[in-house]
Parts: sequence; C-alpha cells; structure tokens
Amino acid sequence: MFKRPLRARPKRASKPDTGLQPGHRFEGEVRDLSSDGQGVVAHPEGRVFFVPGVWLGERGLFEVTGLKGRMGFARVISLSEKSVLRRAPPCPHHGFTSDSCGGCPWLFMDYREQLRNKEQHVQRMLQPLNATLALSPIWASPEELGYRNRAQLKSDGKRLGFVAGSSRDLAEVSDCLVLNTKNRQTLTDLRARLPNPAWKPGRSKQWTSLDIDDDIDAAQVSVNERRPFRQGNSAQNQRMREWVRAKVLQIPTSSPVLELFAGSGNFTEVLVGAAYESICAVDSFGPAIEDLQARSLPGVTGLCSNLDRDDSAAELEAQLSRAKLLLLDPPREGLKNIGDYLHRAPHLNTIIYISCNLATLCRDLQAAMEHKFELQEVQPLDLFPQTPHIEALTVLKRSI
Ligand SMILES: C[S@@+](CC[C@H](N)C(=O)[O-])C[C@H]1O[C@@H](n2cnc3c(N)ncnc32)[C@H](O)[C@@H]1O
Repeated sequence: MFKRPLRARPKRASKPDTGLQPGHRFEGEVRDLSSDGQGVVAHPEGRVFFVPGVWLGERGLFEVTGLKGRMGFARVISLSEKSVLRRAPPCPHHGFTSDSCGGCPWLFMDYREQLRNKEQHVQRMLQPLNATLALSPIWASPEELGYRNRAQLKSDGKRLGFVAGSSRDLAEVSDCLVLNTKNRQTLTDLRARLPNPAWKPGRSKQWTSLDIDDDIDAAQVSVNERRPFRQGNSAQNQRMREWVRAKVLQIPTSSPVLELFAGSGNFTEVLVGAAYESICAVDSFGPAIEDLQARSLPGVTGLCSNLDRDDSAAELEAQLSRAKLLLLDPPREGLKNIGDYLHRAPHLNTIIYISCNLATLCRDLQAAMEHKFELQEVQPLDLFPQTPHIEALTVLKRSI
C-alpha cells in the first residue's frame, strides 16, 4: 500500500502522457510478469501497463483499456515477436475478451515454462530475505489438466460458467478441462438444468454461486452455500501432507502444537498420524471446526475463532504460552500480526508455514526472522497449473 509522504517530494520532470486515453495504441516489450500473471509493459512515456495473455520477452502493439493512478491496463492488438514456447490453448473458452473464461490465464504457455517462471518468481521474492539457499526446485503437478477436485461455478439462472478475466462478467462454459472427471460430469449435469429460476441472483447481485466438489453429485449442489475449504488439487495435497509428515517426524511428539487456519483438519490428521499428543486446531469457519470435532481425533482440540478479531484471546494466549510447534496455512492475507504471536510464544522452536501468497509469506517470514527464527526450507509446489498461483511450504527454526 502506498503511504502519503510526510513532506511533499519535489515534482519529477516527466513528459505529460496526454495521449494516454483508452483506445490509444503503443508498441512495447513485455519486461516482466506480475504476481497475477499479466505482462508488464512500459509505455514509451514511462507509465507501466498490465497486459493479459502475453509472456516475458514478447513484443507487440498494445491498446490502452484503462488507467488507474500511475498504472494502466492494455490489451494485445498484435504480437511482432512471440515466445517460441506458446502453444494453442486446448480450451475454447480460454481468452482475454469480455466473455472468455478467466480461470486459466496461462493456458497458452508450455507447462515447463510456466514452472520455470514460478520458480524464478519465488527466488526473486526470497532474495531480500537472503534466503534463496533454503529454496528447493518447484514440485510440478502430476496432472496439467483434469486436476481440480472442486470449483465455484456462477449462474444468472440462464447461463453457467466462471468469471471472465477481463470484464468480471459471467463467462459461460460448456466444459472445463482443469476439472477432474467427476466434476466435469457434474458441470454437464448442472447445465442440463438450465434455465433454472432457482439459480437467479437476488437484486443487486450479478450471479449466484454453485460450489461443486468431487465428493458430491449435481443433485447435492446448493445455491450460495459455501463449502468448507479443501485444497483444490488432490494429488498435490497428498504431497503436501507427506512433506508435513516428514517435517513433524523430526520433532518430539510431546511438543504441544498450535495449528492456525486448520480448516477441517487436513494437516491436523497428519499431526495425529505422527502421534502428536496435544494439538489445538483453530479456524474461523464453524462448519469446518464442527467437521473436525465430529471425527474425535486423539489429542485434538478444535477452536472456532476469527484470528482477525482475536475472538478467543484467553484461549489463544494459553495455547501460545505452551506451544513448541506452530503450523499455519493462512488465506492470501497471511498472518499480519505474526510478530505479536511469536512474542507471546516463549517455547516455540519450529514454525511450519504453508502459504498461497508469496507477498504476505515474505512479509511474515521477515517478521519471524526478526524474532530469531531462521528460514531452513522453502518448497514451492504447483497446485494450480495454467494459473500463476504458487503454493510454498516453509520451515523456520529458533534455538531457545
Ligand atoms: C488455505 S485454507 C487452509 C485450510 C486447511 N489447512 C486445509 O489444508 O484444508 C485457510 C483457512 O483459513 C480459515 N480462515 C480464513 N480467515 C480466517 C480468520 N480470520 N481466522 C481464522 N481462520 C480463518 C478459512 O476458513 C480456511 O479454512
């Protein structure tokens, strides 16, 4: 976030970007890819534009589609130099127009090249922490397509699809290649129920949501009902669980564990399987904690608490004061006040941090390092091929 400077800085002499209105065309080169996977192209007058559907090193003619502060957005008119690693996207719904599906923005690029870019991105993000030595090569997904065990469809009662990348409108899809076989069938079955007045959005809403999952059929899909979180790629989740197991087996199982953002207990089960005696698993989503508690896993206490609001401050304080191992798997926001947590956890010597957002991960790693934790391992993993998403598994240790 930009902060207002205390004193006004002297104005830099910059050329006026008078012609920079939507519709203006310019030539340029893709110098970088942003964390959301778009090309970064500098306009000859200096302003930076984000362009979907291009790759590093490509050159072409771009058209301004919008301006925001010092940034801009543009689309490709034509490419004069294309990456040799481009491929024909195997999905008819892929694209960057207002009615194309925005789900797989990198589908036009060779999978190995996607992985190479993700690896480089992690390396660059870790550089300021002086921690690149801890980095291992990324684990590719065994399935490039057909891997998604769950997804959220949108409907306006007449159409069914996903959100378009460029317009934020509904993009209708007849099929989806990243869904696994069961979910593709569910999509077909749900499409057979169109038009469907029960799926019409309320006033002031653009669409309704239909969560599909490979453990339910079309008949069990509910409208606007959020299902407990589940890692979206089963094979890669299995790998994450095995990685966590290998790490926790190196620690005495009598160590009390605090697990934050535990969901329904995906990693809690691993701790139980490794015979940990005392685990406090925290999540804000009531149904997830109820699901976890219903399984009566030995040594596990479920705590439903919103960590943004410090709902259960006394209970958390007690857990922090005894925990030796902290396992956390937060949403994209990370754990902003991790420093406060570490300050209140005098016996903590190991942190296992699983992250879906490198920017907040690096912020939190920095805070942990300021509390004398050392980053020992970073294992990136590709949960969502065809997208810029990167999952990172990390271990930090503190000597007490
Ligand atoms: C990335 S998921 C991880 C879930 C689980 N570890 C798994 O592998 O299935 C993040 C979890 O954080 C929970 N969560 C989100 N915001 C939260 C908050 N403010 N306080 C506590 N839990 C939160 C969500 O309900 C979700 O279960």
